[in-house]
Amino acid sequence: MRAQALSAGGGGALEDIMSLTPIGGRLFDGSGQKVTTASLREQKLRHDPITCITAYDYAAARLVDQAGVDMVLVGDSLAQTMLGYENTLSVTMDEMLHHVKAVRRGVKNALLIADMPYGSYQVDPKDALLNATRFVKEGGAEVVKIEGGEKRADLIRHIIDAEIPVAGHIGLTPQSVNVMGGYKVQGKNLSGIEQLMRDAVALDRAGVACIYLEGIPREVAAMITAEVSAPTIGIGAGPECDGQVLVFHDILNLTFGPPAKFVRRYGDAAALITHAVQAFRADVRSHQYPADEESYHLPKETKAALDTVLERKRTMRR
Ligand code: KIV
Repeated sequence: MRAQALSAGGGGALEDIMSLTPIGGRLFDGSGQKVTTASLREQKLRHDPITCITAYDYAAARLVDQAGVDMVLVGDSLAQTMLGYENTLSVTMDEMLHHVKAVRRGVKNALLIADMPYGSYQVDPKDALLNATRFVKEGGAEVVKIEGGEKRADLIRHIIDAEIPVAGHIGLTPQSVNVMGGYKVQGKNLSGIEQLMRDAVALDRAGVACIYLEGIPREVAAMITAEVSAPTIGIGAGPECDGQVLVFHDILNLTFGPPAKFVRRYGDAAALITHAVQAFRADVRSHQYPADEESYHLPKETKAALDTVLERKRTMRR
């Protein structure tokens, strides 16, 4: 159950006003509850598991939103899943924005998070704020996500000061792949655990909307989740997190490779697409497609007139 942040105990009048309030340019019409950063915190307090899935285009966004997930993340993982890059480092602001806009048009109730790509926030805090603002203003995102802990706390405060909610992301942070020396589980020794705790607390104090925990031992994720007031959203971080996120292409077998340990496949879109396309190809090649019912026809009078003209031409040719 999702709670409307201000409606709990707020009385009917406030609820009436809320129901007429356009959220992100769309009217909240009661056909599902709009998830907000405040309602996420309430979910954490109620121990009501938070669900998040990535989406990168309009159709997928509509489907995942209608399926009732709490958060939709336009992750920079789209670099690999949608654009075929080797890692997330090459994807640009403009490429990310293009996808955020498409997802925005498909998401109504879930909270929409946009991932800030590598280079969009590391170089200069002014650029970082400008880029975060673009995600909100042009893309319609409600939250932006930034990788890194303690060292990003000041930047995150700066962005939140500009009225933009920020999601943190610590542990195995894919934008640091070259520094980590590969995609390796983080926080496996005492100093690593200490650093992760410091990172999580620094993000919490900076006021993040939530903290993504990626690729860390479940014991460490459990400690962080108990320590911070921000909801933790795990991916490869065990079941004690306040919520879980998975990549759309991972759960549907659209990644063309062996899945990571934490991935659970819920469907086989690769098989579905392959069979559908093979069947179409076979139908065309065997003249089974299109059938007469799948074709447009002339109106009766036009057909009769055309037949008359053709017959006259044939007669003249004889
Ligand atoms: O880009 C992404 O998909 C992510 C999630 C894995 C958290 O950052």
